[in-house]
Amino acid sequence: MKIAARVGKIQPSLTLAVSAKAAKLKAEGKDIVAFGVGEPDFDTPEHVKAAAVAALQTGVSKYTAVSGTLELRAAVAEELGRAHDVKLVPEQVIISVGAKHSLYNLLMAFLDDGDEVIIPAPCWVSYPELVQMAGGIPRLLHTRPSEKFRFDEGALRSLVTPKTRAILLNSPCNPTGAVYDGATLDAVIKVARAHPEIVIVTDDIYRRLVYGVPWLSIAKRAPDLANRIVLVDGVSKSYAMTGWRIGFCAGPRELIGAMDTLQGQSTSNPTAIAQAAALAALTGSHDPVEAMRLEFDRRRQAMVARLGAIADVKLVTPEGAFYCFPDLSAYLDTKMRDDIALAEHFLQHGVALVPGSGFFAPGFVRISYATSMAQIEKGLDRIATALSALRLSTNLG
Ligand SMILES: Cc1ncc(COP(=O)(O)O)c(C=O)c1O
Repeated sequence: MKIAARVGKIQPSLTLAVSAKAAKLKAEGKDIVAFGVGEPDFDTPEHVKAAAVAALQTGVSKYTAVSGTLELRAAVAEELGRAHDVKLVPEQVIISVGAKHSLYNLLMAFLDDGDEVIIPAPCWVSYPELVQMAGGIPRLLHTRPSEKFRFDEGALRSLVTPKTRAILLNSPCNPTGAVYDGATLDAVIKVARAHPEIVIVTDDIYRRLVYGVPWLSIAKRAPDLANRIVLVDGVSKSYAMTGWRIGFCAGPRELIGAMDTLQGQSTSNPTAIAQAAALAALTGSHDPVEAMRLEFDRRRQAMVARLGAIADVKLVTPEGAFYCFPDLSAYLDTKMRDDIALAEHFLQHGVALVPGSGFFAPGFVRISYATSMAQIEKGLDRIATALSALRLSTNLG
């Protein structure tokens, strides 16, 4: 079968490759600690599930408007309006099949071939691929752990060309857990003010999962850029609803209208029942969300402490999301060449995690703490053993 050339250009997700390998070993009966996952281990809150059941029982089984039900769009407009201190109306909101789909539609709707998108890296595996699928060119803005993965105006400005159409932000960040401070957002604002053709896209999917630091909205800081800021968000991570597939995008009406056109000829509306569930998530009690956040924070502290006790593991304490992203390059040498080999070595010791190369950060690994404390303790014991085995076989020991 001849496969379209466009598929050949897409990199398969390293995250999913690791999960597949770990699942295979598990199926063979091996005890594997799953640190590779990018989703909460908690169940969806009860009141959200109840809303879905009620929807089923009351005949919610038909198409909805392509952009989602008016109730959900209004709830998203209100929720994002509150979070960003901006005024949004439902016509500025479109609901899609997860935030990934929101990003896909968004980039398809506003990039032309050869348009460039600046993406601070390390970054989520899918951003560069999504940009390329839409004909764009990703321009990675490499950041350093010594600067807490933040960047300044000069570094950002150096990547701007006449072809730059967008800057894509993600705070808290997958994989680093970094949360942008005011200075970083101000750097973006200054560059955007100097380049009226640039749009700021901000993927805030982990917005509610921050620990001990404030989450800052770029839209709130720069009301003058309101018509050039596009908000991407969703229920997957904060409400433990990854499988429900509901994401949203809010922005200028023309852009949302263009996304509606694309969505209308591809997927149509996201599942009606999942929309009813998302409405309950946004409008109902947020106690379960806070309980999950507190538990993530407890696990984060445990993982940071354990990693900090292992020699030559360099870690910037994550302040959001649910990942630790240590630099393990001190353990690389001619025998253990890269983080992909390192991830394989960890798998042999019963731990699945994701090599940093997948996030454009060779020498790092991403360890998810979206798993129980018992698994964290067991997995960290194994990581310590796996690394000390390397020390014994190298000059580090
Ligand atoms: C930074 C980031 N954005 C978006 C998504 C996609 O979320 P959804 O499951 O809603 O498509 C993920 C999921 O891993 C993510 O890490």
